[in-house]
Amino acid sequence: MENSTMLEEMALRALDEIACSKAMTELEEIRIRTLGKKGELTGALRSMKDIPEAERPPFGKRINEIRDQLTEALDKKILEIKQADKVVRLKEEAIDITLPGHKQRIGGLHPLTRIYYEIRDIFVSMGFEVMDGPEVEYDKYNFEMLNIPKDHPARDMQDTFYVSNDIVLRTHTSPVQIRTMLKQDPPIRMICPGRVYRSDDVDATHSPIFNQVEGLVVGRGISFAHLKDTLDRFLKEFYGEATKTKFRPGHFPFTEPSAEVDATCAKCAGKGCGVCKGTGMIEVLGCGMVHPSVLKGCGIDPDVYTGFAFGLGLDRLATIKYGITDIRLLFENDIRFLSQFK
Ligand code: PHE
Repeated sequence: MENSTMLEEMALRALDEIACSKAMTELEEIRIRTLGKKGELTGALRSMKDIPEAERPPFGKRINEIRDQLTEALDKKILEIKQADKVVRLKEEAIDITLPGHKQRIGGLHPLTRIYYEIRDIFVSMGFEVMDGPEVEYDKYNFEMLNIPKDHPARDMQDTFYVSNDIVLRTHTSPVQIRTMLKQDPPIRMICPGRVYRSDDVDATHSPIFNQVEGLVVGRGISFAHLKDTLDRFLKEFYGEATKTKFRPGHFPFTEPSAEVDATCAKCAGKGCGVCKGTGMIEVLGCGMVHPSVLKGCGIDPDVYTGFAFGLGLDRLATIKYGITDIRLLFENDIRFLSQFK
């Protein structure tokens, strides 16, 4: 009788503990202690040999009942705890989708970069290569080889920052054309974009640092007709198909003949406005046939090859295109100004 009392007490205690437990680890301990291989129920089974034979069957039956009862209670409790854990976890992981999100500030390209990319893409589509060169340049490449000898009045055209007697801050990107002709045989078809320097006082239309894109084509039989058609095509692509161009005689020491090119004013479409001073046209380019002595100086035979060159001011094109009235805005990097060009 003593054994069965102990068994019942053990069962009651275990059921009570299961009911009170709050964690899976506690339940696991109870399971091992009662139902485990060396557990209390196994112990009770072993003790059967000590009780009178007649009492064994009901005792054994009771052990089995208690095992089922405990297993069921444990399973139920495990489920309850899992359920409770899940509720807590869901609460912790909840995201309030009604909260406003963090605004992403997306940057944009600088207006000069945008204009340059447009120009570059047009010339690349016509088969031009893009070349680069230094901003601190030999006087020789910036002037002398471009037909502008030292002490020649032509130097006055470009107010120059001299680094030393022989070195300048490049006043145009033409020296990149010299460098290209020195190292590459014709045919040549290239553009050279970049920053250039002139010792101008700063005002609404002048800056000591500005940006150019120049171009050069050298080959057999290149004529002024190629020059006109290439630049006319470029300006139509850039400003729109309705754009008209006008080539006026001009002068540059490194081209002969030289021309200046006007295009229909982008602002008023040719009607006449403040930007074009009522003329309907606006000057956008300088160009000409490469002077024979420039070709010769670069080791290219002017009797075999001819070429044309052109140059445009990026800053000027940007101010015209976007109706910017003060060139300084392009260099100040005021975010209120720049964020208008997305
Ligand atoms: N290098 C000239 C300038 O900066 C522009 C130009 C280039 C003109 C090529 C004609 C031909 O003023």
